[in-house]
Amino acid sequence: MSVFYKKRFAPLLLLACTGAYSCSSSEQAAEETPTSLKEAAEGDFYIGAALNYDQVYGREEEAVALIKEEFNTISPENMLKMGPIHPEQNVYNFEPADKYVAFGEENDMFTIGHTLVWHSQAPDWIFVDKEGNTVGRDTLLQRMEDHIATVAGRYKGKIDGWDVVNEALEDDGSLRQTKWLEIIGEEYLQKAFEFAKEADPEAELYYNDYSLWKPAKREAAVHLVKNLQEKGIQVDGVGMQGHYGIDYPSLEDIEASINAFADLGVKVMITELDVDLLPNPSNRQGADIAMTFEPQEGFNPYAEGLPDSVQQKLTRRYADLFELFHKHRDKISRVTFWGVADKHSWLNDWPMEGRRSYPLLFDRDYQPKPAYEAVMEAVSE
Ligand code: XIL
Repeated sequence: MSVFYKKRFAPLLLLACTGAYSCSSSEQAAEETPTSLKEAAEGDFYIGAALNYDQVYGREEEAVALIKEEFNTISPENMLKMGPIHPEQNVYNFEPADKYVAFGEENDMFTIGHTLVWHSQAPDWIFVDKEGNTVGRDTLLQRMEDHIATVAGRYKGKIDGWDVVNEALEDDGSLRQTKWLEIIGEEYLQKAFEFAKEADPEAELYYNDYSLWKPAKREAAVHLVKNLQEKGIQVDGVGMQGHYGIDYPSLEDIEASINAFADLGVKVMITELDVDLLPNPSNRQGADIAMTFEPQEGFNPYAEGLPDSVQQKLTRRYADLFELFHKHRDKISRVTFWGVADKHSWLNDWPMEGRRSYPLLFDRDYQPKPAYEAVMEAVSE
């Protein structure tokens, strides 16, 4: 029996292979074997990838073909962030986002908006007046509302779920000291969700953050969502950015967070999944995009290719992760990779520029890696 055997194919096979019809084992295997990630995970969770500009503009045919073939949900890697889409007060750059949303519609994909309120990649103008002085609370709230009404309003009914707030927490569980918090106060969280709800009442609304497996951050995120829920604010899900390493976090920590968020009665999503194999000069664990290092000797160990032993470790890691996600498929609604093929990954340039990274399921020639087979197997059990 194929390792990809899926319960849901069983009734079909029974029908097809009884009575006047008999099936050879190879015919059976062909019918039983899912041929894509989305098919393998069907009925469990959506499976997706973040798209870059070339892909939404159709400039990279191989990647586009792969996206259509393998995934049923998409995220915008950069084009819907506040800086790129709203670079100046009265200037919106909608074109790339329009293309992204059209791609989602044309291909019938669950289309994610990322992200409405974030401290990174926010445009400079939003926090200052014409003289360059920090704006007051009311002004910033008004600007936030205008931004959300305009962007989430434009894609109303087309974007299925929004990362409303991204990365509001520090790893120790305290609220991150951002301009949003500094100028508006803690209420900015609630306001962001309220404005999003007004702009698109049908869209799912999420809180998204990295390192949510860390116990202190997990507790803080639970507290944050509970607080909003107690105020009657709609939160539909928590996105756990999956910027993981080869040997951290532990599966137990990830699992504890999946359970903790599911206990809130919200959807759990693994967003931004990639597995970083490269060394870093600090003990960094997480995805703070401001944390970068100058290129240094010895930090690009696989420039000429990935040794078999490391490929195997990556495969094992992906198998473990997806066995866990599969186990919790009743809680997890979506798993999204942060990129399509290795060559697109932001981890080629972060936290150190110009390296060769191998964090995804497809190699630089768009070919599935052994980790792909491991994922197919894990979700098909
Ligand atoms: C990254 C993009 O992949 C890069 O292209 C960009 O230069 C920086 O941002 N957490 C997030 C994502 O929520 O938006 C970040 O994406 C990665 C970390």
